[in-house]
Amino acid sequence: MTNRRMFLGFMALGGVSWLRPALGAAARRRVAVIYFSKTGHTRSLAESVRHFTGADLYQVETKKPYPADYTPTTKIVKEEMEKGIVREIKPFAFDPSRYDVIVLATPTWWHHVSAPLQTWIRGQKLDGRFVLTANTHGGGGLMHTREDFEKLLAGSRLGTHLTVFGAVSETSSEVQSWLKTNGVI
Ligand SMILES: Cc1cc2nc3c(=O)[nH]c(=O)nc-3n(C[C@H](O)[C@H](O)[C@H](O)COP(=O)(O)O)c2cc1C
Repeated sequence: MTNRRMFLGFMALGGVSWLRPALGAAARRRVAVIYFSKTGHTRSLAESVRHFTGADLYQVETKKPYPADYTPTTKIVKEEMEKGIVREIKPFAFDPSRYDVIVLATPTWWHHVSAPLQTWIRGQKLDGRFVLTANTHGGGGLMHTREDFEKLLAGSRLGTHLTVFGAVSETSSEVQSWLKTNGVI
């Protein structure tokens, strides 16, 4: 076998581990996406991650739903934030040890990670886990979402953050390159 063919074989077997400091080499990552989504934008991001990785999706939902309409929701959320009211979320089983990569995706709510996703994260033990974070927004961009994630996930190994405006397509090149940058695909 020529040196060139040996090199190509090595690359095909995952020999690019030096590009993947956080994860090490592996054929296929086991990925979970935990997301909250009121109007479907963040769900579209979760579905795009699933398209590229085969991820399991977990949707965080509040026991008492927010109103269907946008403006009343913004008012209620603002009031809950100001008064420190925490809306309960529906419990679901999640075992982080089943995954190599945990993706957390949120809409921006008043500049921050949405309250229901924050509540879910506070109830988990994600220390030492490799976590990617993302927000979908309505024009504000990143705002304080990454800072919130960093505070909530102080013991986790954080990859880079993805910010998108509104929804994404299932085959989004932004999502694909974010996953590549982090060695997930
Ligand atoms: C309560 C509430 C607060 C919001 N606050 C912001 C904000 O501060 N900045 C922003 O860019 N978009 C804000 N938005 C818009 C959403 O972040 C945006 O539409 C997001 O993509 C919705 O995701 P979803 O469809 O998954 O719920 C807010 C929306 C709601 C309902």
